[in-house]
Amino acid sequence: MPDGSNAGEALPVATNRLRLRVKTQSNTNPAELKTIITQIDASIASFLDGCSLTTNLDEAIRYAVLGGGKRLRPVLAWRAAEACGRAGACSIPAGIAVELIHAFSLVHDDLPAMDDDDLRRGRPTLHIQSGEAMAILAGDAMLTLAFEVIMDPSSALEESARPRLLGEVCAGTRAMIVGQVHDTLGGMPESLSEEEKLQLIHRNKTGALISAACRMGAICADADENQLASITEFSEAIGLQFQVVDDLLDAEGDAATVGKATGKDIEAGKLTYPSVLGIAGSRKVAADLHDRAMAAAQSLGPDGAGLVGLLEKLTNRQH
Ligand code: IPE
Ligand code: IPE
Ligand code: MG
Ligand code: MG
Ligand code: MG
Repeated sequence: MPDGSNAGEALPVATNRLRLRVKTQSNTNPAELKTIITQIDASIASFLDGCSLTTNLDEAIRYAVLGGGKRLRPVLAWRAAEACGRAGACSIPAGIAVELIHAFSLVHDDLPAMDDDDLRRGRPTLHIQSGEAMAILAGDAMLTLAFEVIMDPSSALEESARPRLLGEVCAGTRAMIVGQVHDTLGGMPESLSEEEKLQLIHRNKTGALISAACRMGAICADADENQLASITEFSEAIGLQFQVVDDLLDAEGDAATVGKATGKDIEAGKLTYPSVLGIAGSRKVAADLHDRAMAAAQSLGPDGAGLVGLLEKLTNRQH
Protein backbone atom coordinates (compact mmCIF):
# COMPACT_ATOMS: atom_id res chain seq x y z
CA MET A 1 0.00 0.00 0.00
CA PRO A 2 2.52 2.65 -1.03
CA ASP A 3 1.44 6.25 -0.53
CA GLY A 4 3.61 7.42 -3.38
CA SER A 5 5.23 10.14 -1.24
CA ASN A 6 8.67 8.66 -1.59
CA ALA A 7 8.06 6.59 -4.63
CA GLY A 8 10.69 4.78 -6.59
CA GLU A 9 10.06 3.30 -9.99
CA ALA A 10 6.85 1.27 -10.31
CA LEU A 11 7.64 -2.41 -10.14
CA PRO A 12 6.44 -4.61 -12.99
CA VAL A 13 5.75 -8.26 -12.29
CA ALA A 14 9.20 -9.63 -12.88
CA THR A 15 11.78 -12.21 -12.04
CA ASN A 16 13.62 -12.02 -8.71
CA ARG A 17 16.69 -10.77 -10.58
CA LEU A 18 14.81 -7.82 -12.00
CA ARG A 19 13.15 -7.12 -8.66
CA LEU A 20 16.54 -6.64 -7.07
CA ARG A 21 17.39 -3.93 -9.58
CA VAL A 22 14.11 -1.96 -9.38
CA LYS A 23 13.62 0.24 -6.34
CA THR A 24 10.67 -0.78 -4.17
CA GLN A 25 8.38 2.06 -3.19
CA SER A 26 8.53 3.28 0.37
CA ASN A 27 5.31 3.46 2.36
CA THR A 28 5.83 6.02 5.12
CA ASN A 29 2.18 7.12 5.27
CA PRO A 30 1.82 8.36 8.89
CA ALA A 31 -1.99 8.11 8.97
CA GLU A 32 -1.83 4.48 7.91
CA LEU A 33 0.82 3.71 10.53
CA LYS A 34 -1.33 5.37 13.19
CA THR A 35 -4.32 3.24 12.19
CA ILE A 36 -2.21 0.07 12.43
CA ILE A 37 -0.91 1.03 15.89
CA THR A 38 -4.46 1.84 17.06
CA GLN A 39 -5.60 -1.63 15.97
CA ILE A 40 -2.62 -3.27 17.68
CA ASP A 41 -3.23 -1.33 20.93
CA ALA A 42 -6.92 -2.22 20.93
CA SER A 43 -6.04 -5.89 20.43
CA ILE A 44 -3.50 -5.87 23.26
CA ALA A 45 -6.03 -4.17 25.58
CA SER A 46 -8.74 -6.63 24.65
CA PHE A 47 -6.41 -9.61 25.21
CA LEU A 48 -5.45 -8.26 28.63
CA ASP A 49 -9.14 -7.68 29.49
CA GLY A 50 -9.82 -11.32 28.72
CA CYS A 51 -7.10 -12.77 30.93
CA SER A 52 -7.41 -10.77 34.13
CA LEU A 53 -5.26 -12.15 36.95
CA THR A 54 -5.73 -10.03 40.04
CA THR A 55 -6.44 -6.31 40.23
CA ASN A 56 -3.11 -4.82 41.30
CA LEU A 57 -1.18 -7.14 38.99
CA ASP A 58 -3.54 -6.36 36.08
CA GLU A 59 -2.96 -2.64 36.66
CA ALA A 60 0.81 -3.09 36.70
CA ILE A 61 0.77 -5.10 33.48
CA ARG A 62 -1.41 -2.56 31.70
CA TYR A 63 0.85 0.24 32.92
CA ALA A 64 3.93 -1.49 31.51
CA VAL A 65 2.48 -2.69 28.23
CA LEU A 66 0.09 0.08 27.16
CA GLY A 67 0.51 3.86 27.29
CA GLY A 68 3.73 4.86 25.58
CA GLY A 69 6.08 2.83 23.44
CA LYS A 70 6.45 2.68 19.69
CA ARG A 71 4.95 -0.83 19.18
CA LEU A 72 7.79 -1.41 16.75
CA ARG A 73 7.76 -5.19 17.05
CA PRO A 74 4.02 -5.73 16.33
CA VAL A 75 4.25 -3.19 13.50
CA LEU A 76 7.20 -5.10 12.05
CA ALA A 77 5.20 -8.34 12.27
CA TRP A 78 2.32 -6.59 10.49
CA ARG A 79 4.53 -5.20 7.72
CA ALA A 80 6.32 -8.55 7.33
CA ALA A 81 2.97 -10.30 6.86
CA GLU A 82 2.05 -7.72 4.22
CA ALA A 83 5.42 -8.17 2.54
CA CYS A 84 4.56 -11.85 2.21
CA GLY A 85 1.24 -11.10 0.55
CA ARG A 86 -1.36 -11.22 3.36
CA ALA A 87 -3.30 -8.53 5.22
CA GLY A 88 -1.14 -7.30 8.12
CA ALA A 89 -3.93 -7.93 10.63
CA CYS A 90 -3.28 -11.70 10.42
CA SER A 91 -0.12 -11.04 12.46
CA ILE A 92 -1.89 -9.47 15.46
CA PRO A 93 -1.64 -12.43 17.90
CA ALA A 94 2.07 -12.76 17.05
CA GLY A 95 2.54 -9.02 17.56
CA ILE A 96 0.83 -9.11 20.95
CA ALA A 97 3.04 -11.99 22.08
CA VAL A 98 6.26 -10.24 21.09
CA GLU A 99 5.18 -6.93 22.59
CA LEU A 100 4.43 -8.69 25.90
CA ILE A 101 7.91 -10.24 25.92
CA HIS A 102 9.44 -6.88 24.98
CA ALA A 103 7.54 -5.03 27.75
CA PHE A 104 8.60 -7.69 30.26
CA SER A 105 12.21 -7.27 29.17
CA LEU A 106 11.99 -3.50 29.70
CA VAL A 107 10.42 -3.83 33.18
CA HIS A 108 13.22 -6.16 34.29
CA ASP A 109 15.92 -4.17 32.45
CA ASP A 110 14.96 -1.09 34.50
CA LEU A 111 15.15 -2.85 37.90
CA PRO A 112 17.75 -1.67 40.43
CA ALA A 113 19.67 -4.94 39.99
CA MET A 114 19.89 -4.30 36.25
CA ASP A 115 20.11 -0.77 34.74
CA ASP A 116 18.42 0.91 37.72
CA ASP A 117 16.35 3.36 35.67
CA ASP A 118 13.54 5.60 36.90
CA LEU A 119 12.15 6.79 33.57
CA ARG A 120 10.64 4.68 30.78
CA ARG A 121 8.41 5.75 27.91
CA GLY A 122 8.34 9.23 29.45
CA ARG A 123 6.88 7.96 32.75
CA PRO A 124 8.18 6.44 36.00
CA THR A 125 9.40 2.87 35.49
CA LEU A 126 7.17 0.15 36.91
CA HIS A 127 9.36 -0.49 39.95
CA ILE A 128 9.13 3.22 40.83
CA GLN A 129 5.38 3.24 40.23
CA SER A 130 4.41 -0.05 41.91
CA GLY A 131 7.46 -1.27 43.81
CA GLU A 132 10.19 -3.75 42.99
CA ALA A 133 8.30 -6.91 43.94
CA MET A 134 5.39 -6.02 41.67
CA ALA A 135 7.75 -5.16 38.81
CA ILE A 136 9.41 -8.58 39.07
CA LEU A 137 6.08 -10.41 39.28
CA ALA A 138 4.37 -8.38 36.53
CA GLY A 139 7.35 -9.15 34.26
CA ASP A 140 6.98 -12.87 35.06
CA ALA A 141 3.27 -12.66 34.22
CA MET A 142 3.88 -10.86 30.90
CA LEU A 143 6.31 -13.58 29.86
CA THR A 144 3.70 -16.25 30.61
CA LEU A 145 0.87 -14.37 28.89
CA ALA A 146 2.91 -14.18 25.69
CA PHE A 147 2.76 -17.96 25.36
CA GLU A 148 -0.96 -17.92 26.16
CA VAL A 149 -1.66 -15.56 23.26
CA ILE A 150 -0.13 -17.98 20.80
CA MET A 151 -2.01 -20.96 22.27
CA ASP A 152 -5.35 -19.14 22.72
CA PRO A 153 -7.77 -21.27 20.64
CA SER A 154 -10.00 -18.25 20.00
CA SER A 155 -7.24 -16.38 18.15
CA ALA A 156 -7.42 -16.46 14.37
CA LEU A 157 -4.07 -18.23 13.91
CA GLU A 158 -3.84 -21.27 11.68
CA GLU A 159 -3.27 -24.38 13.83
CA SER A 160 -0.13 -25.34 11.90
CA ALA A 161 1.36 -21.90 12.61
CA ARG A 162 1.08 -22.14 16.42
CA PRO A 163 4.05 -24.47 17.12
CA ARG A 164 6.24 -22.51 14.70
CA LEU A 165 5.29 -19.23 16.37
CA LEU A 166 6.00 -20.70 19.81
CA GLY A 167 9.43 -21.75 18.57
CA GLU A 168 10.12 -18.21 17.39
CA VAL A 169 8.98 -16.64 20.69
CA CYS A 170 11.16 -19.08 22.65
CA ALA A 171 14.22 -18.46 20.45
CA GLY A 172 13.82 -14.67 20.67
CA THR A 173 13.26 -14.70 24.43
CA ARG A 174 16.12 -17.00 25.36
CA ALA A 175 18.51 -14.97 23.17
CA MET A 176 17.27 -11.75 24.79
CA ILE A 177 18.03 -13.20 28.23
CA VAL A 178 21.49 -14.41 27.16
CA GLY A 179 22.18 -10.92 25.77
CA GLN A 180 21.04 -9.30 29.00
CA VAL A 181 23.34 -11.60 30.98
CA HIS A 182 26.30 -10.67 28.79
CA ASP A 183 25.38 -6.97 28.91
CA THR A 184 24.99 -6.95 32.70
CA LEU A 185 27.30 -9.67 33.97
CA GLY A 186 29.73 -10.41 31.12
CA GLY A 187 30.79 -14.02 30.68
CA MET A 188 31.61 -13.86 26.97
CA PRO A 189 34.55 -15.83 25.58
CA GLU A 190 37.73 -13.81 26.20
CA SER A 191 38.99 -14.76 22.74
CA LEU A 192 36.45 -12.39 21.15
CA SER A 193 37.45 -8.87 20.10
CA GLU A 194 35.57 -5.91 21.58
CA GLU A 195 33.60 -5.55 18.36
CA GLU A 196 32.70 -9.24 18.32
CA LYS A 197 31.54 -8.99 21.93
CA LEU A 198 29.41 -5.99 21.02
CA GLN A 199 27.77 -7.83 18.17
CA LEU A 200 27.14 -10.84 20.36
CA ILE A 201 25.45 -8.73 23.05
CA HIS A 202 23.40 -6.62 20.67
CA ARG A 203 22.28 -9.41 18.37
CA ASN A 204 21.09 -11.36 21.38
CA LYS A 205 19.61 -8.76 23.70
CA THR A 206 17.73 -6.82 21.00
CA GLY A 207 18.20 -8.27 17.52
CA ALA A 208 16.78 -11.73 18.20
CA LEU A 209 13.37 -10.55 19.40
CA ILE A 210 13.06 -8.10 16.52
CA SER A 211 14.00 -10.91 14.18
CA ALA A 212 11.38 -13.15 15.82
CA ALA A 213 8.73 -10.42 15.34
CA CYS A 214 9.45 -10.21 11.61
CA ARG A 215 9.64 -13.95 11.09
CA MET A 216 6.42 -14.46 13.06
CA GLY A 217 4.63 -11.99 10.79
CA ALA A 218 5.90 -13.96 7.81
CA ILE A 219 4.79 -17.25 9.36
CA CYS A 220 1.30 -15.83 10.01
CA ALA A 221 1.22 -14.98 6.29
CA ASP A 222 2.27 -18.52 5.38
CA ALA A 223 5.39 -17.19 3.65
CA ASP A 224 7.26 -19.38 1.21
CA GLU A 225 10.91 -20.28 1.72
CA ASN A 226 12.27 -17.39 -0.36
CA GLN A 227 10.08 -14.83 1.37
CA LEU A 228 11.07 -16.14 4.80
CA ALA A 229 14.76 -15.97 3.83
CA SER A 230 14.38 -12.32 2.75
CA ILE A 231 12.45 -11.45 5.92
CA THR A 232 15.12 -13.15 8.05
CA GLU A 233 17.92 -11.24 6.33
CA PHE A 234 15.98 -7.96 6.72
CA SER A 235 15.22 -8.68 10.37
CA GLU A 236 18.78 -9.51 11.36
CA ALA A 237 20.09 -6.28 9.85
CA ILE A 238 17.35 -4.08 11.29
CA GLY A 239 17.53 -5.85 14.67
CA LEU A 240 21.21 -5.07 15.12
CA GLN A 241 20.80 -1.59 13.69
CA PHE A 242 18.04 -0.85 16.20
CA GLN A 243 20.40 -1.36 19.16
CA VAL A 244 23.23 0.58 17.47
CA VAL A 245 20.83 3.54 17.14
CA ASP A 246 19.65 3.00 20.75
CA ASP A 247 23.30 3.28 21.87
CA LEU A 248 23.66 6.49 19.81
CA LEU A 249 20.52 7.93 21.40
CA ASP A 250 21.90 7.15 24.86
CA ALA A 251 25.15 8.93 23.93
CA GLU A 252 23.64 11.92 22.13
CA GLY A 253 19.91 12.22 22.85
CA ASP A 254 18.11 14.06 25.64
CA ALA A 255 15.78 12.35 28.10
CA ALA A 256 12.77 14.53 27.22
CA THR A 257 12.85 13.37 23.59
CA VAL A 258 14.01 9.81 24.14
CA GLY A 259 11.59 9.18 27.04
CA LYS A 260 14.26 7.50 29.18
CA ALA A 261 17.44 8.62 30.92
CA THR A 262 20.40 9.20 28.61
CA GLY A 263 24.14 9.08 29.27
CA LYS A 264 23.63 5.99 31.42
CA ASP A 265 25.68 3.59 29.28
CA ILE A 266 28.91 5.55 29.68
CA GLU A 267 28.23 6.08 33.37
CA ALA A 268 27.77 2.33 33.83
CA GLY A 269 30.80 1.50 31.68
CA LYS A 270 28.69 -0.53 29.24
CA LEU A 271 30.12 -1.98 26.08
CA THR A 272 28.28 0.03 23.40
CA TYR A 273 28.89 0.94 19.76
CA PRO A 274 29.81 4.58 20.55
CA SER A 275 32.18 3.46 23.34
CA VAL A 276 34.03 1.09 20.99
CA LEU A 277 33.71 2.73 17.54
CA GLY A 278 32.92 6.35 18.41
CA ILE A 279 29.92 8.29 17.11
CA ALA A 280 31.04 8.42 13.45
CA GLY A 281 32.02 4.74 13.44
CA SER A 282 28.65 3.79 14.95
CA ARG A 283 26.80 5.85 12.35
CA LYS A 284 28.70 4.05 9.61
CA VAL A 285 27.68 0.66 11.06
CA ALA A 286 24.04 1.84 11.21
CA ALA A 287 24.21 3.03 7.59
CA ASP A 288 25.71 -0.26 6.39
CA LEU A 289 23.01 -2.21 8.23
CA HIS A 290 20.39 0.05 6.66
CA ASP A 291 21.71 -0.83 3.20
CA ARG A 292 21.69 -4.55 4.02
CA ALA A 293 18.10 -4.37 5.29
CA MET A 294 17.05 -2.29 2.28
CA ALA A 295 18.38 -4.85 -0.21
CA ALA A 296 16.46 -7.60 1.60
CA ALA A 297 13.23 -5.57 1.75
CA GLN A 298 13.50 -4.72 -1.93
CA SER A 299 13.89 -8.36 -2.86
CA LEU A 300 10.31 -8.79 -1.59
CA GLY A 301 8.99 -6.57 -4.40
CA PRO A 302 6.18 -4.00 -4.09
CA ASP A 303 4.65 -5.69 -1.03
CA GLY A 304 7.85 -4.81 0.87
CA ALA A 305 6.96 -1.09 0.76
CA GLY A 306 5.83 -1.03 4.39
CA LEU A 307 9.09 -2.60 5.58
CA VAL A 308 11.09 -0.10 3.49
CA GLY A 309 9.13 2.77 5.07
CA LEU A 310 9.78 1.44 8.59
CA LEU A 311 13.47 1.06 7.85
CA GLU A 312 13.73 4.70 6.82
CA LYS A 313 11.85 5.81 9.91
CA LEU A 314 14.02 3.74 12.25
CA THR A 315 17.32 4.83 10.74
CA ASN A 316 16.45 8.47 11.42
CA ARG A 317 14.61 8.03 14.70
CA GLN A 318 15.08 10.41 17.64
CA HIS A 319 13.40 8.19 20.26
C1 IPE B 1 13.97 -0.16 23.86
O1 IPE B 1 13.13 -0.64 22.83
C2 IPE B 1 14.86 -1.25 24.32
C3 IPE B 1 15.72 -1.79 23.29
C4 IPE B 1 15.66 -3.02 22.93
C5 IPE B 1 16.70 -0.94 22.65
P1 IPE B 1 12.13 0.35 22.11
O2 IPE B 1 12.85 1.61 21.72
O3 IPE B 1 11.42 -0.39 21.03
O4 IPE B 1 11.10 0.69 23.29
P2 IPE B 1 9.59 1.17 23.24
O5 IPE B 1 8.77 -0.07 23.12
O6 IPE B 1 9.38 2.09 22.09
O7 IPE B 1 9.39 1.84 24.56
C1 IPE C 1 17.92 -3.39 26.74
O1 IPE C 1 18.93 -2.61 26.23
C2 IPE C 1 17.49 -4.43 25.84
C3 IPE C 1 16.48 -5.26 26.48
C4 IPE C 1 16.45 -6.52 26.30
C5 IPE C 1 15.46 -4.67 27.34
P1 IPE C 1 19.08 -1.20 26.93
O2 IPE C 1 19.31 -1.33 28.39
O3 IPE C 1 20.05 -0.40 26.14
O4 IPE C 1 17.61 -0.60 26.69
P2 IPE C 1 17.14 0.82 27.22
O5 IPE C 1 18.11 1.83 26.65
O6 IPE C 1 17.13 0.77 28.70
O7 IPE C 1 15.76 0.96 26.61
MG1 MG D 1 20.04 -2.76 29.71
MG1 MG E 1 18.33 -0.19 29.98
MG1 MG F 1 19.87 1.67 25.72
